[in-house]
Amino acid sequence: MAPPELRIIIIFPMASCLQLCLLMLSLLSAATDAATGAVRFGINYGQIANNLPHPTQVSGLLQSLNVNRVKLYDADPAVLTAFAGTGVEFIVGNEDLHNLSDARSARAWVAQHVQPFLPSTRITCVTVGNEVLSGTDASAKQALLPAMQAVHQALVDLGLDAQVGSPFLLNAYPFFAYKASPATVSLPYVLFEPNHGVRDPGNNLTYDNMLYAQIDAVYAAMAAAGHADIPVRISETGWPSKGDDEEVGATVQNAAAYNGNLMKRIAMGQGTPLKPDVPVDVFVFALFNEDMKPGPASERNYGLFYPNGTPVYNLGIDGASFGPSPASTVSSSSKPTIKFLVAFVALLATFLL
Ligand SMILES: *[C@@H]1O[C@H](CO)[C@@H](O)[C@H](O)[C@H]1NC(C)=O
Ligand SMILES: *[C@@H]1O[C@H](CO)[C@@H](O)[C@H](O)[C@H]1NC(C)=O
Repeated sequence: MAPPELRIIIIFPMASCLQLCLLMLSLLSAATDAATGAVRFGINYGQIANNLPHPTQVSGLLQSLNVNRVKLYDADPAVLTAFAGTGVEFIVGNEDLHNLSDARSARAWVAQHVQPFLPSTRITCVTVGNEVLSGTDASAKQALLPAMQAVHQALVDLGLDAQVGSPFLLNAYPFFAYKASPATVSLPYVLFEPNHGVRDPGNNLTYDNMLYAQIDAVYAAMAAAGHADIPVRISETGWPSKGDDEEVGATVQNAAAYNGNLMKRIAMGQGTPLKPDVPVDVFVFALFNEDMKPGPASERNYGLFYPNGTPVYNLGIDGASFGPSPASTVSSSSKPTIKFLVAFVALLATFLL
């Protein structure tokens, strides 16, 4: 029932000058939600770079792509201001766990960095820390739960409608598993391409891709710990388009296959073998290549876009245009009912069946 793939040519004004370039993008309307017109995935807007466009231009780009969910690693006021009135839903973050675990500091942070942007910017979730449990900072691990509790209390105290309970946010990268063991990990299996699949002897389910196996591994581990009712969401997943010589698999072709195939499955509302009725919920990493990220070359090449707004590869999503934000679609006086979530982010880098 997939619609025919249309090829369109759009005119793409460059950020830096008025030079026009023609860009071929395929239109894959299945990637969008019929009711809202929005794509069903969110995007991580990382900013570890010195060459990114102004948030107002980014707002225009994301709206032209119909992306309406964005995750930040901080609560950058320039970004939150630029998206005022757009209806785009934000996850904001704070990685300073020591500060947040103090009730007064947590309240000051929410009052300074979240509350002033409401309700015109739709902030719906605050993440506390990033990949803390897989890190080496023992005191940060200890501060995680108190920080989540303090942020939740701050939201309550400030009259923001804080929801009890938190989803389990997971950063999952089949790329790391492939890069670590390219001789034993099947490339089609990690790229969502046709393969024989892997049967999990623990539940007798067969997996045709590693990401779903990673998600179900977390569900299984949480059920074993007595928490069968916590939803798992993917706060990051992606594939780099470039890497160092020894980073096997980091290519434009593989990145396009991984992200493109993932988006097709998300468009189908697919669940995992263990939770077939729970559509996989993903924030793709990342919006832009980030030139100042440390580490191997792959770290600087996860972007769907170059900083000038040109796509790194054809993703098969709707046409992009890179300009100032279109007119507000949401009146800032209409107060949407927002339920805040407080969550933390775990990293599951490698998982082999
Ligand atoms: C903690 O966060 C608050 C609010 O952002 C800030 O005013 C304060 O300076 C921070 N304290 C420390 C020790 O970083
Ligand atoms: C998986 O299937 C095998 C063979 O049919 C059976 O012996 C085993 O009990 C099953 N395991 C589970 C967890 O259902």
